[in-house]
Amino acid sequence: MALWGGRFKEDVAAATQEFGASLPVDKHLYKQDIAGSKAHARMLAKQHIISQGDCDAIVGCLTDIEGEIDAGSFSFHIEDEDIHMAIEGELTRRIGEAGKRLHTGRSRNDQVATDTRLAAKALAHDLMQANLHMREALIGAARDNEGVVLPGMTHLQHAQPVLLSHHLLAYYWMFERDFHRLTAAFEAADASPLGAAALAGTTYPIDRVAASYEMGFARVICNSLDAVSDRDFILDLHFACSTMAMHLSRLAEEIVLWSSSEFGYITLSDAYSTGSSIMPQKKNPDFAELIRGKTGRVYGNLLQLLVTCKGLPLAYNKDLQEDKGGMLDSARTLSQSLAVMAGMISTCTFNADVMRAACEVGHLAATDVADYLAKKGMPFREAHEIVGHLVLVCEERGCRLDDLPLAVFQEASPLFGPDIVSSLDIDAIVGARTTMGGTSPSAVREQMRLVRATLVAD
Ligand code: ARG
Repeated sequence: MALWGGRFKEDVAAATQEFGASLPVDKHLYKQDIAGSKAHARMLAKQHIISQGDCDAIVGCLTDIEGEIDAGSFSFHIEDEDIHMAIEGELTRRIGEAGKRLHTGRSRNDQVATDTRLAAKALAHDLMQANLHMREALIGAARDNEGVVLPGMTHLQHAQPVLLSHHLLAYYWMFERDFHRLTAAFEAADASPLGAAALAGTTYPIDRVAASYEMGFARVICNSLDAVSDRDFILDLHFACSTMAMHLSRLAEEIVLWSSSEFGYITLSDAYSTGSSIMPQKKNPDFAELIRGKTGRVYGNLLQLLVTCKGLPLAYNKDLQEDKGGMLDSARTLSQSLAVMAGMISTCTFNADVMRAACEVGHLAATDVADYLAKKGMPFREAHEIVGHLVLVCEERGCRLDDLPLAVFQEASPLFGPDIVSSLDIDAIVGARTTMGGTSPSAVREQMRLVRATLVAD
């Protein structure tokens, strides 16, 4: 008979046992459940609601149970339904009466919300560490490839040359923002629902603040109905994970493109590539593709919880049991994806020669040639048109802007002089973008300083 079986005459239908159980998922929260129960027991003893002797017995036995679960020697039974009843049931089997007093002034509704918040905090914290490693990998690659230029793109068409370090640091900033979203998710979870009991609070003289403090929460949730039914903190974690997965996916997409024969910008290390079972020559960017692919399940978990919660009346409803699987899945997915991506970035080779050669294609100097005219007094729109015409001449002749003789430039505008060559040189073009946040080596060095400072601050 279940721990709640007093008012029932019959056992649950066999078909509902596995269906209703959350144990396969929430057994991963055993540490949180035990920490919450210990805090509750100590608070009950401090408030003289249970004896110190009972409290000691409870806490000692919970420590034993935790050790056995850690060691894998604890046996779970699906009839226990969830981690709360699995542990409380075993506690009572071992220490009798004292174990039965643990649930005084508490409900599984505030208990599960407590466990889930503790778990969300731990997951957010671990993801923050993984996020920092990812950012270190990007900084390392930016530092090791100083001075490498490649065609910056818009619409996946060659646009203007940029430094590879600048390109990599653009990803750095995405992950830097993700870190702050994780911090916000951590803070959202950092409030104790324990003491809300089933939904309305309790008649026992409990001390919610003492229990909350012992569990390491920053604050106590003020409304008991809200405490047992709020899952916004999981949504915050899902959103942080989803945005970070999107950033990883964009980077993964570039890795897939860049490692293709058509681009050839990067060569992945063997450790982060796979072969084909039929084509002996293949070296595939499987793991970048998989990171991109796993984004879907992370978004799915966010959507799943939004939909689960949208029609729920106050307060606890069993629908909420569906909240933990996606949270654990998204956190695991992100922590693996971040580790794999960090490894891939730190071990791949960026092919500087190929990237530089690619800068010869697509008239990357066109904007600078127009700026040359504008700086000599011509309105920019007019300059734009003249350079557009010069590009057309190049297209017709099958040459580059810097292949055109000075006479052709001067025919297009008498403002052109021999100094036009510096507007046609890739390094000079990159070097001229010295504005804050621009791609010149000096601006990128400054950005590197900022980046390092944010890494240290986080
Ligand atoms: N296994 C449940 C969950 O994960 C625990 C809370 C159950 N409460 C209840 N009244 N049925 O949500």
